[in-house]
Amino acid sequence: MTIADETPTTVPESVTDAVRGARRVLVLSGAGMSAESGVPTFRDAQTGLWEQFDPSELATAEAFRLDPPFVWAWYAWRMRLVRDVEPNAGHRALAELADLREVTIATQNVDDLHERAGSSVAAHLHGSLFELRCSECATPYAGDVELPAEPVERIDPPTCPRCEGEVRPGVVWFGEMLPVPAIEATERAIEALEPGDVVLVIGTSGIVYPAAGYPAMALAEGATVIEINPADTEISDMCHHHVRGPAAQVLPRVVEAVR
Ligand code: OAD
Repeated sequence: MTIADETPTTVPESVTDAVRGARRVLVLSGAGMSAESGVPTFRDAQTGLWEQFDPSELATAEAFRLDPPFVWAWYAWRMRLVRDVEPNAGHRALAELADLREVTIATQNVDDLHERAGSSVAAHLHGSLFELRCSECATPYAGDVELPAEPVERIDPPTCPRCEGEVRPGVVWFGEMLPVPAIEATERAIEALEPGDVVLVIGTSGIVYPAAGYPAMALAEGATVIEINPADTEISDMCHHHVRGPAAQVLPRVVEAVR
């Protein structure tokens, strides 16, 4: 990946024209969407979570089975981190876009920043940090949880009031199935796209499937695919337009032009 030398001061007219001309806008967002809120991405050099932490020790069902307090503590810290930050101008611009166009959001993000900005999210493809459930019987857990401000080594996860199993975060771990309703909602939104409609692919490295395959599916429907990302990604080449800039700067400009 190469980081763009400078942030664009303007968004190309071809991009704003495309969004203005669309009836439907499908948003496919990844970790970069929340970066300017202060939520670390996974793979950015130095700051990415997977640069500092080993995903095989934290993001698999096997890791949780072997050491629940270790895995739980990391997610409890991430819950706290997300709870303590605010949606950024990019999230807010997308919420505003929904007043102007038919917007569907399918996100890989496990935070709730789209919702807190006022958007409704059709699909959380990788689940949600806050939708806790029992790791044994899958009963949702709504009890209190301790959320540390700093990463700590271990915290015992809460216990399921129904079966006494350990409570786990509602995220999709490596090797697990994505939630079927989220896949179906995303595929329905893609199938509904018509030529002239737009897909905004925002802040994702485009390497985790099935999400990474959705831009190609949208292309096949004749949609105009626009990537918003300061860096080149695996899917940049297939996109019609690539706006090299951070989401919180680019999206308000796009929406301003459509208004
Ligand atoms: P990555 O960390 O792989 O990629 C983040 C992308 O955001 C990179 O392409 C960055 O260049 C870009 N980016 C950084 N700052 C940005 C900004 N301010 N505005 C726009 N873009 C910016 O994150 P994802 O692609 O979301 O899965 O990762 C996909 C999945 O891998 C995650 O959902 C997670 C992870 O393992 C699970 O946990 C299941």
